[in-house]
Amino acid sequence: MSIGKLDDLPRAILSHTPTPIDEMPNLSKGMGTANLYVKRDDCTGLGMGGNKARQLEFYVGEAVARESDSILITGAVQSNFVRMAAAAARKVGMECHIQLEERVPNPSTIYRHSGNVLLSKILGATLHTFPRGEDEEGADRQLEEIAETLRSSDRKPYVIHLGPGNPPLGALGYVVAAREIIEQINENGPEFDEITVASGSGATHAGLLFGLRALGSSVPVRGICVRRAKDLQHPRIVSRCQEIADLLGIENPVSERDIDISDDVLAPGYGKMNDAVLEAIRLTAHTEGIILDPVYTGRAMAGFLNRVRQAKDGQNLLFIHTGGQPAVFGYETDLEPLFSDHAKVQ
Ligand SMILES: Cc1ncc(COP(=O)(O)O)c(C=O)c1O
Repeated sequence: MSIGKLDDLPRAILSHTPTPIDEMPNLSKGMGTANLYVKRDDCTGLGMGGNKARQLEFYVGEAVARESDSILITGAVQSNFVRMAAAAARKVGMECHIQLEERVPNPSTIYRHSGNVLLSKILGATLHTFPRGEDEEGADRQLEEIAETLRSSDRKPYVIHLGPGNPPLGALGYVVAAREIIEQINENGPEFDEITVASGSGATHAGLLFGLRALGSSVPVRGICVRRAKDLQHPRIVSRCQEIADLLGIENPVSERDIDISDDVLAPGYGKMNDAVLEAIRLTAHTEGIILDPVYTGRAMAGFLNRVRQAKDGQNLLFIHTGGQPAVFGYETDLEPLFSDHAKVQ
């Protein structure tokens, strides 16, 4: 199944795919009669796995094609993307420079040093800091300055620019994932009535939706806001889909009506938990043995569970597990006391 130029673009194979689609029979108990499934994109393998492995395949493919020697990326302190970029860079023999943006106010010492930060250090990345949390353009500018310094010492940096206005190469990883899901449905079924996924930068959400529509699937895709409210996220997904069409050289198959976003579980904001997120983490762990993270997948699962409660009899609902588990350790200060109350320590 070809989708425009998708298979002609440079790509470095970094992830273990296809990732499995598993049933979650225990999670649905007491919540209606929908059949629940999870696509285990937390199992993509690269540097402890997650959705960004698929996205990095296209960025790193381009970096290799340009004969770069280092990869530069910016993200939140507990960003999974930067940790996996460090792993991807190592896999193709490059250095990695990571810029950590202070997006979460009053972070704990553990937040600043454990989880993804520790893994990036183990991977040998060079860390830089950016103190102004929500200034995407400023973060991109400072990253470019780091690249310039490297260029002036004859290095060949490849900058992964993630802000709006940059081609969303990473979203192509989720166009590939959409094709994979359709192949899995064709091989083993079932047809899904709805797919739920975290919507942060929107690359995963837009890529998945685009790929499904490009291949003729009309399955609804619900994006759960993890970073910004839906009135800001909606135009982002609209532009992302058009930019994907431009990258692939095909018409955009996604219409405005296809874009379904919820910010019901976003409060109190990016990287901060609420009761629904905690309950989603607890329930999924206790019923299915699946670990979610407090920033992305816990929140997305809270949104998914809201859908499960409203689902019609026998509907098949698919949750995309996008990974992020190392952040559990970065958020230990917040999580441990909450879960210790329930833990049976004898
Ligand atoms: C674990 C995890 N899930 C979901 C997302 C959201 O993906 P996207 O930025 O493509 O919307 C991220 C983004 O960093 C992530 O790390």
